[in-house]
Amino acid sequence: MRIGVAGTGRMGAAMASRLLEREHPVTVWNRTREKAQALVAAGASVAATPRELASACQVVISMLTDAAAIDATYRGRDGLLEGEVRGKLFIEMSTVRPEVEQALSASVSGRGAALIECPVGGTVGPAKEGRLFGFVGGAAADVARARPVLDELCRRVEHVGPVGAGASVKLAINLPLLVYYQALGEALSLCRSVDVEPPRLIDIFADTSGGPNMLKVRGAAIAATLQGRETSPVTFDVDLIRKDLRTMLEEAAALGVEMPLTAQALERYDAAARDGFGAKDATMLPAYWLRHRRS
Ligand SMILES: NC(=O)c1ccc[n+]([C@@H]2O[C@H](COP(=O)([O-])OP(=O)(O)OC[C@H]3O[C@@H](n4cnc5c(N)ncnc54)[C@H](OP(=O)(O)O)[C@@H]3O)[C@@H](O)[C@H]2O)c1
Repeated sequence: MRIGVAGTGRMGAAMASRLLEREHPVTVWNRTREKAQALVAAGASVAATPRELASACQVVISMLTDAAAIDATYRGRDGLLEGEVRGKLFIEMSTVRPEVEQALSASVSGRGAALIECPVGGTVGPAKEGRLFGFVGGAAADVARARPVLDELCRRVEHVGPVGAGASVKLAINLPLLVYYQALGEALSLCRSVDVEPPRLIDIFADTSGGPNMLKVRGAAIAATLQGRETSPVTFDVDLIRKDLRTMLEEAAALGVEMPLTAQALERYDAAARDGFGAKDATMLPAYWLRHRRS
């Protein structure tokens, strides 16, 4: 079964390389073609357009920035939905609002194909190693068809409801994590006069109820930034965090719920982006706050 990957940015490329490593035939398409070259060298075929990708593959994964990118890739000229797609399965994995996945599912059904959503928890490393956490929305029969592919990419797959439910859970699980980066920066500002080296201090946080699981995985990188180093390669940047927070706030407005902390966190990250931090890794945010904090 040939698997297509539309969007070979950081996450899409990592997932495609995982599928190649597991010896699946893979075809890729990316808007900026050069970014797919490393995958071609690793054994992937490349499609010239999304339409060609959809026609060549039985299952197509998409991993794209946002709703606009999904719209362009699926519904644009030579888009995925212009391909020969009848009977095929799409697995949409981007982080977007539930209504985006629901509208896309209707468009895909209208072409005689099926769609499940599977936004993921975990970044580039887990994607390369098949250790993502998938939050799946879709019809049970379609999810069952997708399962062999999802199991190659995810350490855990949770089918949480129909299309849209996965997006809701994904936005929800990201919220405390994204607010936490700012909370950690503010917390560390209370320790400025404490004479403990950053690696030890972060290790203390990580071993308490004040530390999320992320600190166990990314704590060393955060400590290094506190010692003046820059996180490289960037896996989850500040601009992507701002996109996620904006998406959460749009969803909250549509649901009529208030999210004051989330709104404040977005303001902080917008300020970081204005200071030139948009393309920096999320792990640099606490150090950024300590150096640029405002009264
Ligand atoms: N990075 C993470 O740790 C992480 C973790 C979990 C989930 N996610 C989610 O996964 C998705 C992808 O993230 P990423 O880190 O892989 O981002 P990325 O490296 O910036 O890649 C984004 C991809 O979307 C494509 N794209 C953007 N706008 C497009 C358009 N108008 N038409 C066609 N293609 C377009 C890009 O193509 P070009 O190369 O041509 O720009 C690229 O392939 C996002 O929804 C993100 O929130 C990310």
